[in-house]
Amino acid sequence: MPHESATLSVPHRRHGSNAGQPLTRRDGRLKVTGRATFAADNHPEGMLYAVSAVSTIARGRVTHLDIEVAKGHPGVVEIMTPANRPPLSHDPDVKMAPFGFRVEVLQDDTVRYVNQPIALVIAETLEAATEGALLLNPRYAVEEARTTLENGQHYELSAVGIGSPARTAHGDLDAGFQAASIVTEAEYVTPPQYHNAMEPHAVVAQWDGDHLTLDMPNQAMALSCISYGAYFGIPAENVLIRSPFLGGGFGSKAILNGPQLLGILAARMLKRPVKLVLTRAQMYGPVGHRGKTWQTLRLGMDGEGHLTALHHHALCATSSFDDFIEPAANASLPLYASPAILAEHTGLRLDIGTPGPMRAPGEASGSAALEIAMDEAAEACGMDPLDFRLANYAETEPGSGKPFSSKALRECYAEGAKRFGWSGRPLRPRQMRDENGLLVGWGMGTAVFHCPHFPAEARATLRDDGTALVETSGADMGQGAWTALAQIAAETLGLDPDQVEFHSGVSSLPDGGIAGGSGHTASAGLALNNAGEDAIARLAELATADPQSPLFGAGNIGVVARGGRLHRRDDEGQGESYADILRRAGRAEVVGTARAMRDPAVGSAHALYSHGAVFAEVKVDPDLGQVRATRLVGAFAAGRIINPRLVRSQYFGGMIWGISFALHEEAITDHRTGRIMNADLAEYHVPVNADVPALDAILIPEDDPYINPLGVKGVGEIGITGTVGAIANAIWHATGKRVRRFPIRIEDLLAPAEE
Ligand code: MOS
Repeated sequence: MPHESATLSVPHRRHGSNAGQPLTRRDGRLKVTGRATFAADNHPEGMLYAVSAVSTIARGRVTHLDIEVAKGHPGVVEIMTPANRPPLSHDPDVKMAPFGFRVEVLQDDTVRYVNQPIALVIAETLEAATEGALLLNPRYAVEEARTTLENGQHYELSAVGIGSPARTAHGDLDAGFQAASIVTEAEYVTPPQYHNAMEPHAVVAQWDGDHLTLDMPNQAMALSCISYGAYFGIPAENVLIRSPFLGGGFGSKAILNGPQLLGILAARMLKRPVKLVLTRAQMYGPVGHRGKTWQTLRLGMDGEGHLTALHHHALCATSSFDDFIEPAANASLPLYASPAILAEHTGLRLDIGTPGPMRAPGEASGSAALEIAMDEAAEACGMDPLDFRLANYAETEPGSGKPFSSKALRECYAEGAKRFGWSGRPLRPRQMRDENGLLVGWGMGTAVFHCPHFPAEARATLRDDGTALVETSGADMGQGAWTALAQIAAETLGLDPDQVEFHSGVSSLPDGGIAGGSGHTASAGLALNNAGEDAIARLAELATADPQSPLFGAGNIGVVARGGRLHRRDDEGQGESYADILRRAGRAEVVGTARAMRDPAVGSAHALYSHGAVFAEVKVDPDLGQVRATRLVGAFAAGRIINPRLVRSQYFGGMIWGISFALHEEAITDHRTGRIMNADLAEYHVPVNADVPALDAILIPEDDPYINPLGVKGVGEIGITGTVGAIANAIWHATGKRVRRFPIRIEDLLAPAEE
């Protein structure tokens, strides 16, 4: 078991406040007792099973399917192919929104990547549908698979990520390099990685006339209702999505995809509910992944170790037909002070499924390269890597010059280094061994993540029994969002979290915004806070207008909500319970509502980020090249901490993902066929308990007065960003080897080391 510890400063604990308390997950008991129902657990009356038949080639055409054979299989009800696929109201080759991708829904016989759906078999049982799909025995006109740097098509980009600029330049780069006394340059390669959520993508679709009900894991319910409505020619209000639990999303469940659309089409075609669940292998293609990158970093430094120029170029793979580009080079924009910075991207079209957002999209791959480059620059300057980062500490956002809304990075460096014991680190590599003769190395990396905020809505109902119901639609992906959000609502409502009933995970509730971008707690939390304030204001109106209330006439002075009572602001001894106020007013409840968004002026005036620092220890077997991460200390500042238990666990999750990126994960392509050779959880490596060392996450207090009225930032993704580089740098420190491609493997460390 990982060793756990966390520190929490006093400022986050408000007296009498629910925020800051380490409550356990509200849905924890349901989950550990198996009573939480996930999408695929739904079995409506008369339900059919759909199974995708998927391509085994990367490019070409389907020339033949044994439709009659498959259709003759007992239990098979229908086979959907391009020949009989019902029409859609929106062309799937046309992007609906920046967040909408082109999808394969049997529009024709073209194959654009391996694992693309080429037919859908619908049957009375899962077994019959699976066997029917096998009997289709497809034949193809095969064209060469273009899956490499050499045979892919290079192209210029107009945008990266979700609408970010492909090229950002600050200052005079040539002058910066001319002023440099030391220049370092290297190339870094990050592999394709797949989300591999425990719960596969699934849908149970039911039509009732022109009303559609979908049980599906979904990170962006309101947006999805609009998109499904457009595809099926019905109003968004006619689409009901139920997504009470997600077995992980990581970005791949925020976006509509072809297989799920096909399942919904099948339900409409056959006028019966249809369930479709992707197999693990079928998730390697049509539902997104983190795209491969080839990044070049060139850094110029003066004699004192200050950056004079920073050039980050990322070549990023995408599909032949759409253009999600990992915004990797943009990781170099917000962090280190350099008078000249150029971050730019180019694209590479391959015969692969379109990549998409995957936990810390851009930042994860980009900071992995940047943090190794910073380490190499420190080495070239003969400086300690932490001192080098402090020498290049940006007081304002590089380029824009905007002040940070808050930046506790110095505290993260200091506290992390102290806890880790960094000051004892020898400068040169290969200086440390453990009692068994293993090489020991220490490395570090800076963590950073931006703070997006999505519009969100909520409703808060105060009831005459003294309890409250709060509602907002957004899904809990497993991180404990419901628990933290209920704490925010309880605090505003002046109640104990146990008195607050929390409803979420259904699209008919007020729009909870997007569960992604590490922005869910801030976005939905602000909506809940404002809805709660609205409910309290309505209750106060009742009380202050009632001559029988001790609060009568306190309208201008104001009231405070605490302990299920309203108190006069100027005399807290004078108060009345919510239940009494409602009862005397003859009301069963008061309802507050809100639609909330961060003031856009905040982002224009301030640079909005969470910050952190990660310190890593690795041990490397000098003979076998085997690497183990043995110790990780992360210190993070992310504004106000609502629930330290959940936040710590998010940091642990991010840091473990960092171990995974550094040492484990890679989808390996057979370039002769374009097939992924390890499309399963046996050979696509992710860390298991034995790979996870002692973890320590330090919660650095940060009072950010600008970020939003709650002071809350995101914590979900930042933990990956510093960790990857920290581990790679620790491996260099242990071995003297700079490995610049991920995952770092035994064979990278076996060749004789430079002493
Ligand atoms: Mo995410 S990549 O914001 O789920």
